[in-house]
Amino acid sequence: MDQKVNIHPQVEAKIDDLLCRMTLAEKAGQLTHLSPSLVGGFDIEDLIENPELFREVKRDFHEDWIREGVVGSFGGMTGAEDINRLQKIAVEESRLGIPMIFGLDVIHGYRTIFPIPLAEACCWEPELMERTAAAAAKEAAAAGIHWTFAPMVDIARDARWGRIAEGAGEDPYLGCQAAAARVRGFQGNDFSQPDRLAACAKHYIAYGAAEGGRDYNRVDLSLQTLHEIYLPPFQAAVEAGAATVMSSFNDLNGVPASANPYTLTTVLRGQLGFNGFVVSDANSIGELVPHRFAADRKEAGLKALTAGVDMDMSTESYRHDIPELVEQGVLSLDVVDEAVRRILRVKFLAGLFDHPYRGSAALERDIHLHPQHLSLAREAARRSFVLLKNESDLLPLKKETTISLIGPLADNQADMLGSWAFTGSPKDVVTIAAGLRAAGCANLRVAQGCAINSPETEDFTEALAVAAQADVIVAVLGESAMMSGEAASRVSLDLPGNQQALLEALHATGKPLVLLLVNGRPLALPWAAQHVDAILELWQPGTQAGHAAADVLFGNYNPSGRLAVSFPYSVGQCPIYYNRPSTGRPAGAFKFTSKYIDGPWEPLYPFGYGLSYTQFAYENLRLTETEIHPEDTLYVRVTVRNAGGRRGEEVVQLYTADLVAGRVRPVKELKAFQKIALQPGESRELLFKIKASDLGYYDTAMQYVVEPGLFQLWVGPSSAEGLETTFRIV
Ligand code: NOJ
Repeated sequence: MDQKVNIHPQVEAKIDDLLCRMTLAEKAGQLTHLSPSLVGGFDIEDLIENPELFREVKRDFHEDWIREGVVGSFGGMTGAEDINRLQKIAVEESRLGIPMIFGLDVIHGYRTIFPIPLAEACCWEPELMERTAAAAAKEAAAAGIHWTFAPMVDIARDARWGRIAEGAGEDPYLGCQAAAARVRGFQGNDFSQPDRLAACAKHYIAYGAAEGGRDYNRVDLSLQTLHEIYLPPFQAAVEAGAATVMSSFNDLNGVPASANPYTLTTVLRGQLGFNGFVVSDANSIGELVPHRFAADRKEAGLKALTAGVDMDMSTESYRHDIPELVEQGVLSLDVVDEAVRRILRVKFLAGLFDHPYRGSAALERDIHLHPQHLSLAREAARRSFVLLKNESDLLPLKKETTISLIGPLADNQADMLGSWAFTGSPKDVVTIAAGLRAAGCANLRVAQGCAINSPETEDFTEALAVAAQADVIVAVLGESAMMSGEAASRVSLDLPGNQQALLEALHATGKPLVLLLVNGRPLALPWAAQHVDAILELWQPGTQAGHAAADVLFGNYNPSGRLAVSFPYSVGQCPIYYNRPSTGRPAGAFKFTSKYIDGPWEPLYPFGYGLSYTQFAYENLRLTETEIHPEDTLYVRVTVRNAGGRRGEEVVQLYTADLVAGRVRPVKELKAFQKIALQPGESRELLFKIKASDLGYYDTAMQYVVEPGLFQLWVGPSSAEGLETTFRIV
């Protein structure tokens, strides 16, 4: 349903009234987003490494500027008391009393931390993503926040890029479902409600396509790929009502995304009909200078504002430079007024003029870590786990089994939270070891084995002594929280430090070996895939990590997650994604085909893949019609049966491919999915309705066309398997 930010005449009239009364400095201030400045000498690296130190550094909250009415928005603040104190200055002491909007990165929870977004996408359950976003909004709003810099809706096809953790993976269809669900979750039907947040779809646009997977790097891609792959999740977010959009750091085909009139104005405003405001990413306006796209801060501000960036986050160009640019006649006042209008529109719709203050210390106490949020966090985590391998049905384990739990993530709190979890607290986290114990696992021995990422060789004697006592060894390995997220690209997708050596030493004991992975990106683990008996991908599960892990390890919950990204064999395959365009020489036995001479070309685990403790059979795929018109709907039926001995959930996935087209098309594209639960022996007939109009593409002239011709269709458990048939658009 289209919920777009709308234009209401009464609101616009109030904005007109304010615009008439605002000075140019106040207008420029309205377009400015500031954070508290850190006072005194400090080393930024030390602060990043040490959150305690970061909390203690003195801050300047810019009260004077707020009083002058030259700050429209504030970030980097937590806690209702502090936020409302600053808001009071804006509302009661500034000339026009315009409230500020307080934004924060509430990415996967506020105090209760849910699984990282990439993990949640592996649930393939939009309704669940909506619920976790709603809970995050409730906790953040209790702490005084109005606006979250989420959801991150960047498509990511390269596991080297650390920010793959923050989004919904590689596929635009799943990405759209996640984007819309998260916007609905944060905003509800009305983001002026006291327990909701205004959402911000970011990073606009194509930030996930950074060359080489290196953060902030250039992006060079065709307009077709932009519109077919990277834009759809933003469109879904806008249609779900996202109040704001954040412009990204990267350049796109030579034009920085924070100063790109085509993407920001022609596409976002013109084609998508977006009426909210665009905020720059932090200092992305200032960075037009090192991009060598602007000579100085002032020119950067001019280019960004005229391209369509309404709010300047952290550069302080708008506040300082707009008055002069207008006075010099280089910048039209209409452009400034339009940007102010969009920001005031969102402030009115957020109810800030009627209720400028949010939350309280008492509400924080009541709502943070609320038992309902903790049980939702446990539910979301266990549903996001992906069972990658389960040789001889080693899992689930019995609680009576003597387990040696070994690895740097076995009894670890902080790294369960993942990136962007600074409002959470490691001390709230249930470690994997604590979770197994709480589930009644009495014969548990724990050893760290090694550090997560030590550059030195480590001695495994203690870990091997603990392993020797086990019936089953459970290794808990992966990445630290800091190894993914922003500015955390990697050149290797191996287990860091000595962890691979530890895993091999544990395997050499000859005991049954389970690998639990805790990580923020796909890792390339061909050795583990071959030698370890069972592999369960936990991602970074959040506050309830240990309970969720115990639920799945002991079989109280049958794993139902499916990969939202391909897992490569080797980092050399990156970028790797299932919906790649066809090549003239598809990989085959013949030498001169599209492959590698020193490793496989297929992923280790494909998009959509994941095992269960039961098995599902696919039967009887049929179409009502095998020929449809471009305006028709295709009705697809399939029967799925639980052929194993346990209740389980299956993600039934439908893919299509256009077999001959006027442009080279993907070998396969996800078009629909349904997640269903089946009792042992139960079967269910599912109906999918596929609109022919969703099977088109942008032709070489950038016209969206639905071409007549033959299509292939698959319904199955992953992008690599399924029943197949064909149909024709006539
Ligand atoms: C930079 C990040 O790229 C963005 O995702 C975030 O919202 C802003 N900083 C604000 O913290």
